[in-house]
Amino acid sequence: MELITTYICKEFDIGIHNNMFGGRLISLIDDASGSYAAQLCDTPRMVTIKFDELMFKKPVKVGGILKIYGKVIKFGSTSLELYMEIRKHNVYTGEQEIVTHTNVKFVRIDEEGNAIPISERVKIRYYERFKRFGKGLLSAEETDMEKETHKLN
Ligand SMILES: CC(C)(COP(=O)(O)OP(=O)(O)OC[C@H]1O[C@@H](n2cnc3c(N)ncnc32)[C@H](O)[C@@H]1OP(=O)(O)O)[C@@H](O)C(=O)NCCC(=O)NCCS
Repeated sequence: MELITTYICKEFDIGIHNNMFGGRLISLIDDASGSYAAQLCDTPRMVTIKFDELMFKKPVKVGGILKIYGKVIKFGSTSLELYMEIRKHNVYTGEQEIVTHTNVKFVRIDEEGNAIPISERVKIRYYERFKRFGKGLLSAEETDMEKETHKLN
């Protein structure tokens, strides 16, 4: 799994029981998974088709640091299924607790909004990157390294 984004819970994220709203947590997963899917597939045209069930296992309070992780479950022909997890991060101990997790499915679309295939190149690249770096998204340094490798080969 790889870290996609980090978020600090604010006062305006809080609901009536002094806990972060469930809808806000879902929205964080939607944002993180949508941007992850777009980056993995080299296109902003990825739409959410399905959210699996999720449970809110731990409450989040103001100031809580949330880390959102993801990984590819499966590339289909036009779809990409991701596993997403939000964890509370304790800055004193480094310990993390799962707040919620779910699978989210995206479909690549064209200009008219019709489903179109995700390229094989994108799929192969993800698995190669995952084998090499343990993640699909590369840092700027890793991208440079990758470019250098391809230049040399
Ligand atoms: C996404 C959308 C274009 C798909 O259209 P569609 O006619 O249902 O497309 P298809 O039947 O060809 O299915 C596309 C993919 O979704 C998968 N899919 C369709 N229905 C599904 C379901 N109920 N559960 C899981 N996967 C499903 C198909 O298996 C296919 O994946 P694959 O090619 O990897 O096998 C259309 O449903 C849509 O526009 N939905 C609204 C998206 C949206 O607005 N999301 C919120 C904002 S991003």
